[in-house]
Amino acid sequence: MQPIADLDVLPDAVAPVSSAPDTAGTLDLPRPVAGRGGTNGRAVYIETYGCQMNVADSELVASILSGAGYAIASDEMDADVVLLNTCAIREKAEDRVRGRLTHVRARKERQAAEGGAALQIGVLGCMAERLRSKLLEQERLVDLVVGPDAYRDLPRLLAESEATGQAAVNVQLSREETYADLAPVRLDSNGVSAFVSIMRGCDNMCAFCVVPFTRGRERSRPVASILSEVGQLVDAGYKEVTVLGQNVNSYRVDQGGAPVDFAELLYRISLLSPELRIRYSTSHPKDCSDELLHVHRERPTVCDFIHLPVQHGNTDVLARMRRTYTREHYLDLVERARAIVPGVSLSTDIIAGFCGETDAEHADTLSLMEAVRYDHAFTFAYSERPDTYAARKYADDVPDSVKRARLSEIVALQREHALASHTARVGREEVVLVEGTSKRSDAQLRGRTDTSHMVVFDRPAGLERGDYAVVRVDDCTSATLLGTFVRKTTLAAETAPPVAVGGVA
Ligand code: 5AD
Ligand code: SF4
Repeated sequence: MQPIADLDVLPDAVAPVSSAPDTAGTLDLPRPVAGRGGTNGRAVYIETYGCQMNVADSELVASILSGAGYAIASDEMDADVVLLNTCAIREKAEDRVRGRLTHVRARKERQAAEGGAALQIGVLGCMAERLRSKLLEQERLVDLVVGPDAYRDLPRLLAESEATGQAAVNVQLSREETYADLAPVRLDSNGVSAFVSIMRGCDNMCAFCVVPFTRGRERSRPVASILSEVGQLVDAGYKEVTVLGQNVNSYRVDQGGAPVDFAELLYRISLLSPELRIRYSTSHPKDCSDELLHVHRERPTVCDFIHLPVQHGNTDVLARMRRTYTREHYLDLVERARAIVPGVSLSTDIIAGFCGETDAEHADTLSLMEAVRYDHAFTFAYSERPDTYAARKYADDVPDSVKRARLSEIVALQREHALASHTARVGREEVVLVEGTSKRSDAQLRGRTDTSHMVVFDRPAGLERGDYAVVRVDDCTSATLLGTFVRKTTLAAETAPPVAVGGVA
């Protein structure tokens, strides 16, 4: 099947990110030195594909390897070891990694032919788990295959493969590993926003999804280690955390007989700083409780933005997808979210062309989008993944051309909705966290609203990355709000309850 272009960059799908260590913040967590300079004389370059979880995992890998004496290279050409942290969610994602592997492998062979240092190449993450020995035996592309629960074993595996000249593999999945005790090395960080992983794996077994096979069973990280990591980020000047998991809102741990669920965890995180915005990704509608919605309502630093992947608008397709809710349940949930959290911004994931999808079923996705009017959507053509329930039980019978046409309709409708949502914000003042300069011009800054809308505005004197600013929105496109700086502010100042004048509030 031909892969089909996605509409947008998934919140949990980033372009390859290289291992440039954080140089932006004042982070006091262990940090590697770029280029050579580790204590074992070897440097590793990590390239990340796929979701935000993979970005967070690469930061753990950097922590483990810098602890073992490796320098973290920000340039592939400075490295003795190239690790690709991979994604298997769609065929297209795997194809990209294969292309890269072939390229790095060719360099290794060139280097060897010229008598240069031996390059070690490793595949980490979801593709490692899915393809295992195939990468080693059939394709002979790599020296190292390491699954997402085996990163602590990386130093040993690298040493073994270097000593023996043979490939080394560990794709053991774990029911316990959460890497709770590790301090991630922030790679490619802007010093303002960081990811904090709180749970791993997924037990949901949606019919289309390979994640439960590549990342294993769901497990949650202890509360104290999460609060400690966020506390260190606050101390280091970070202003936003995105709490991550394959299914964050099913987070649950038992603390001495007292369960802590996701709503409680988020509440506790929000007590750490009045200046720290909190987001999370990605969630399942079945776990979006009223308690969680009330945390959004009551805690001003918990952003009023919920990524609530619906996947499809038709109840029969949802059942085939094994999503465990109906269209009506989902629409009820949206109504509840909007009643409890006024102004909440919603985003979603949608799959076009799932097995057996009829024209009428597809029309239900469009009508659900009309009913909800998402602020953002990440849309995909269905890509059959080996071993999933759908691959085993259903025919991938929607022709590519039909998938593509349906996806285009979804994309066009979402653009209309995004533009309408942006247009409705013109004239408003928004509180923006400055993330850096605009991609187009150093004379402009960019940042996000609480509802995750991107705002670009002319840079005033004295406003820096990591500051909060009130910005008046003057204009928009379907992707960006364009504004004018009004004043510098703090989150606490903007979210404080109104002070009663001359009486009791
Ligand atoms: N084909 C297309 N899209 C998929 N997703 C997950 N598996 C597949 C697949 N086999 C999408 C879902 C999910 C997002 C992360 O990727 O929409 O929410
Ligand atoms: Fe995949 Fe479903 Fe788990 Fe999300 S909830 S990771 S779509 S199985």
